[in-house]
Amino acid sequence: MCPPRYFAVEYAINPWMDPGAPVDAELAMHQWSVLRATYERLGHRVRLVEPRPGLPDMVFVANAATAIDGRVLGARFRNAERAPEAEHFRDWLGANGHPGVRPPAAVNEAEGDLVWTGDVLLAGSGFRTDPRAHREAAAVLGVPVVSLELVDERYYHLDTALFVLTRGPRARIAYYPPAFSAAAQDLLGRMFPDAVAADAADAACLGLNAVSDGKHVVLPAEATGLAEALAGLGYEPIPVDVSELRKAGGGPKCCTLELHA
Ligand code: ARG
Repeated sequence: MCPPRYFAVEYAINPWMDPGAPVDAELAMHQWSVLRATYERLGHRVRLVEPRPGLPDMVFVANAATAIDGRVLGARFRNAERAPEAEHFRDWLGANGHPGVRPPAAVNEAEGDLVWTGDVLLAGSGFRTDPRAHREAAAVLGVPVVSLELVDERYYHLDTALFVLTRGPRARIAYYPPAFSAAAQDLLGRMFPDAVAADAADAACLGLNAVSDGKHVVLPAEATGLAEALAGLGYEPIPVDVSELRKAGGGPKCCTLELHA
């Protein structure tokens, strides 16, 4: 995770961002701190990247890299505003037990668009990550990749419309079907017959930008319908307030890089 010390909405690179609207930086830091404390209370080890002035989106570390079984593919941001983050993240990974980060040739916004089910890498495109990056990820990470096209600009990263509830060969996901092309919806329906389909209200608060450890699901507090559905399936929903971070188009998952190392 990366503390939102320099967090602000200074530019608009997704429809959630309005540089004219106020952001409460102190509240953003508080919400982020609660998220961090939540992970630690659940027994997860959290390591921190030092934020840099002038990079207000650096809190969204999900976009930093993709690490699976000792192989790490770095990030290449689509927007110039975020481009310098890539090397800070690469340096951090190198200094923290993940050397040999491979710099991508194609635009690749990492776990924002590359979601590991434990078995296959679900790969989004349409707004940020280049479809060519999907093939590159398959080659560098040595895993099967399934490409999914996103069609609603509010759900510009795959992790704003889909997350993995339980990883493994019989992974279970939750997603918002209308965020995907017809072909992608068809594919997801066949691959994940027991998926949880979220509704428009759950999606619109970035409720799908959630983090699950297979039992506890940390998700935006407004996603009450989704939380109820998850509880009914035996998961423990853990609502968090991310109102300020959402002003940049982010939620719990965006603030979290999961190293599947
Ligand atoms: N403002 C950031 C951007 O548009 C938000 C990134 C959210 N990250 C994510 N993994 N969805 O790039």
